[in-house]
Amino acid sequence: MSVKLKSPEETAKMRVAGRIASELLDYLTPHVQAGVTTGELDRLAHDHQVNVQHVIPAPLNYAPPGHTPYPASICTSVNHVVCHGIPGEKKLKPGDIINIDVTVIKDGYHGDTSRMFFVGTPSIQARRLVELTYEAMWRGIRTVAPGAQLGDIGHTIQKFAEGQGFSVVREFCGHGIGAQFHEEPQVLHYGRPGTGLKLVEGMIFTIEPMINAGRAGIRSKGDGWTIVTADHSLSAQWEHTVLVTAGGFEVLTVSAGAPAPPAS
Ligand code: MF3
Ligand code: CO
Ligand code: CO
Repeated sequence: MSVKLKSPEETAKMRVAGRIASELLDYLTPHVQAGVTTGELDRLAHDHQVNVQHVIPAPLNYAPPGHTPYPASICTSVNHVVCHGIPGEKKLKPGDIINIDVTVIKDGYHGDTSRMFFVGTPSIQARRLVELTYEAMWRGIRTVAPGAQLGDIGHTIQKFAEGQGFSVVREFCGHGIGAQFHEEPQVLHYGRPGTGLKLVEGMIFTIEPMINAGRAGIRSKGDGWTIVTADHSLSAQWEHTVLVTAGGFEVLTVSAGAPAPPAS
């Protein structure tokens, strides 16, 4: 197990990368409208990162073992797509829900965050799924403190999500992040309290639960990346990059347009 603790200098760089990633979502927000294609959102995101933010889009050509290089600069996961949706020529339509997941590399360090967006007016069920997934992520984040364990985070998220009648995707998890996109540890969104790695000040990892309205099972599509729910039910995801501090946690992927944390 090699979980790298970040120095104050590295943490400062992660704070900058996190803010820029969140600002990229702020920039994209007004463009998420019925009629726009996910490919157009990808081009906007690519050009903004390269020409305005002067960062590297980490997803572009990302090729972890067993994968073909990812062909775009963001992930766009619509409705029953769980994660890693590849932008394309399909237009968003009223009632769609979409996750946009962005990761920037600034000065050698990664900032990774995603949000859900409504296209027009969502169904009652879609709104509930998106809002409760946001709360599930935040309940996980609020569990973070020195001495807490990874199993505490997973348990908190799983208990809340399943208590609402939803299910937690098992095959994908949060992850350590820094000079590498995906580092140790793996941050599962399910688990048992009092188990797993003990958190220490200076750790940085993502919390990014994928919650399905139906069953937890997933399938991969033939493009090598896109993951969908096996039962075609809706899926939602939110993601923040989080630092363990002496007093608890600091969310690094914040900017003016980031949605407020839930009250509860
Ligand atoms: N951003 C995703 C995550 O949260 C990873 C996307 S990998 C890609 O870990 F290649 F699909 F972009
Ligand atoms: Co991530
Ligand atoms: Co991400």
